Amino acid sequence: MPLRFVHVSDIHLLDLAGVRPWHYFNKRITGRVNLALKRRREHDERIFDAVLEHGLRLGADRLVVTGDLTNLSLPSEFAHARARLSAAGLPVTVIPGNHDTYTRGAVKQRLFERHFAEFMIGERDDDTEFPFVQRHGAVALVGVSTGIASLPLFATGRVGVDQLARLDGMLARLGDDGLVRIVLIHHPPVAGVSKPRHDLLDLGAFGEVIARRGAELILHGHEHRCVDSSLAGPTGPVPVHGVASGTSCSSRPGRQASFSFYEVDRDLIHRERYTWNGTAFDRVH
Ligand SMILES: [Fe+2]
Repeated sequence: MPLRFVHVSDIHLLDLAGVRPWHYFNKRITGRVNLALKRRREHDERIFDAVLEHGLRLGADRLVVTGDLTNLSLPSEFAHARARLSAAGLPVTVIPGNHDTYTRGAVKQRLFERHFAEFMIGERDDDTEFPFVQRHGAVALVGVSTGIASLPLFATGRVGVDQLARLDGMLARLGDDGLVRIVLIHHPPVAGVSKPRHDLLDLGAFGEVIARRGAELILHGHEHRCVDSSLAGPTGPVPVHGVASGTSCSSRPGRQASFSFYEVDRDLIHRERYTWNGTAFDRVH
């Protein structure tokens, strides 16, 4: 049986209920200003409902979210996002983005891991969360974290040497098992896709793992635009697909809300891309 899934990202679900001003201490001040001025108008979670509705109509049997489910890593936002995912109507896989590890406190308290544990159940090399592997028939979803608390006005990410070492071993093993390896990572792992302040700090080291072990597909978000690129693999280029925000209200070409629908099986990776036209999703290719 092929795996049919919806890839969505950067849904930035907002819930400020019960939040007091001192919760915005430090970086959250800049985040809150940004949120108040821009983000509130830029995202509409009703579009996420339309993604789910459309995905279910297409026959999706899983939802894959590549990070930035929240804005400020507030407990209320995590609770809200978790409720929305639990009611999605299909099984969910998530990895964190920079907005889900927005402050050192959120990272230290492991808010993402605690709220979304049920969506990251899978095989692991040890008791660390990432990478995790979910096997679905001939397909292995490999969830990588780039979540670090970066400085104000930065949106960088890092995989880290320990996680890269585990990823190396996992990709080798899954490749030996003949599985279709799909790596999920929030930040684009290809040089030049993100501007420096938004970059994956160790994308060179990540690229070396892919060059050595290979993968069949890499999915990311973060840039709020759809972008196709590739990384060198041991037997040829590995496709890298980035998807725009799943809740963007923008009508600017390239910035509209989007999702991708994948059908994947041994020797098959088929993608359809859908973009929001203001009232519904249109298939664009
Ligand atoms: Fe991001």
